[in-house]
Amino acid sequence: MTQHLAAPTHTLDGTRPGWWRDAVIYQVYPRSFADGNGDGMGDLDGVRSRLPYLKNLGVDAVWLSPFYASPQADAGYDVADYRAIDPMFGTLLDADALIRDAHELGLRIIVDLVPNHSSDQHEWFKRALAEGPGSALRERYHFRPGKGANGQLPPNDWESIFGGPAWTRTENPDGTPGDWYLHLFAPEQPDFNWDHPAVADEFRSILRFWLDMGVDGFRVDVAHGLVKAEGLPDIGGHDQLKLLGNDVMPFFDQDGVHDIYRAWRKILDEYPGDRIAVAEAWTPTVERTANYVRPDELHQAFNFQYLGTAWDATELRSVIDLSLAAMRPVGAPATWVLSNHDVTRHATRFANPPGLGTQIRDAGDRELGLRRARAATLLMLALPGSAYLYQGEELGLPDVTDLPDEVRQDPSFFRAAGQDGFRDGCRVPIPWTAEGSSYGFGSGGSWLPQPDSWGGLSVEAQTGDPDSTLELYRSALAVRREQPGLGEGDAVSWLDAPEGVLAFRREGFVCTVNTTGKAVSLPAYGQLLLASAAVAVDGGRVDLPADSTVWWAV
Ligand code: GLC
Repeated sequence: MTQHLAAPTHTLDGTRPGWWRDAVIYQVYPRSFADGNGDGMGDLDGVRSRLPYLKNLGVDAVWLSPFYASPQADAGYDVADYRAIDPMFGTLLDADALIRDAHELGLRIIVDLVPNHSSDQHEWFKRALAEGPGSALRERYHFRPGKGANGQLPPNDWESIFGGPAWTRTENPDGTPGDWYLHLFAPEQPDFNWDHPAVADEFRSILRFWLDMGVDGFRVDVAHGLVKAEGLPDIGGHDQLKLLGNDVMPFFDQDGVHDIYRAWRKILDEYPGDRIAVAEAWTPTVERTANYVRPDELHQAFNFQYLGTAWDATELRSVIDLSLAAMRPVGAPATWVLSNHDVTRHATRFANPPGLGTQIRDAGDRELGLRRARAATLLMLALPGSAYLYQGEELGLPDVTDLPDEVRQDPSFFRAAGQDGFRDGCRVPIPWTAEGSSYGFGSGGSWLPQPDSWGGLSVEAQTGDPDSTLELYRSALAVRREQPGLGEGDAVSWLDAPEGVLAFRREGFVCTVNTTGKAVSLPAYGQLLLASAAVAVDGGRVDLPADSTVWWAV
């Protein structure tokens, strides 16, 4: 049931045009951020109560993962009603209050939009199934007869990203086996047919609904997946799970998606206050990613190539150059991201040898991982463009790699028979206090167990400790605000540096990064602004500590 609001809508006053071009955007995963009602699950009230913390941290905007009505087959990325809040997260009035409070603090709110698929409990899909073959509502999804004498084989060879076939066979209302439907993700997430005008109309209306509520933008889930190639052709021998492979797949990155985003851009531009959209688009190359942010399309796209880069000076420099070069012709800002709710946290990725991908089961060398994670963050925040932070990275949280199988909830873990799908490890509720129930997450425990050591990593334990990761983030974001131009521009000037070290200049500023495991002696570049590890400047020289980043005012 869609809830209705009597209250008027609200927008952020004093908008700085182009605010998003250098914004630092903090991802809140609502289940795991703060629990307002003590049921062990985070909610909108919890988020609202912690907005002052986010303001004080120094971010510009908050992106909220889905909070819509959903059976939670994929933690809310299976939406049953795009205009309603799931009762476990609150009500539309709570969302309205959250948006208003955020705006009063000068924080912008970006919501997640999931247009590639709905939940199988969405009204359209439920009716499409119940009405049986011939239902007009089936045309809004991809229903097809099966292959084989009795239609017992899937209509094509596509596989679900979560493992297993991308098709599930339906049962007709009379109990006989029926047609199949397409789901690139879990069976509970049927893919929409974007060739159907009702689908496009519905999403334009959903955009307006949330824009009217006052949100400042959208993160577009699976933005590369909406349009499927004509005839849904087999892919043959391709290894389709490699999302960053060299080929455009018949279900990903089809050129037709861009028409959709051109239409959306017109709607966003109709609203005051620079409303934006950021694409979650996995494409074969950064150049193809740049297609999503042409001037008449979306504003930003996540830079997954950067997220996947190892802690290695040569590789980092190359991905930074490639990313900036790809965005330059379309005039969009580059974006940078190290962690999100789908990958192993970067403190744990960097604690392990390179080449293991973005879903890792081993804790690795924690101390090394944290050292590199702090350095990686300072590097990221010194680059031109917009940066995305994922809740808890400011505490230096590692992934929880030892969750028992019985508490796991990630559907991809189960569909991949426990060989993959370790996304629960980055979704464990974050610690606010050094002690107490779920370390201050809420009064009623936490939906995934937190490690015993997390009290020491809590906001409370780190606040005021100048060596803590939390204070490092606060200082970095403060310097970024005070140092005009740090996030602006579309280029960095590289300076000569020894092997394993990166050094680049921006206006009035130099960033040095030592990716090696040994200290490196260099002439000091200027006045020390901030460092990810203890550093001493002596007689005009500095020993850059192993795995560290230093910011200099020049
Ligand atoms: C995106 C989300 C991920 C979700 C998937 C299906 O990749 O980030 O969490 O499982 O889409 O909606």
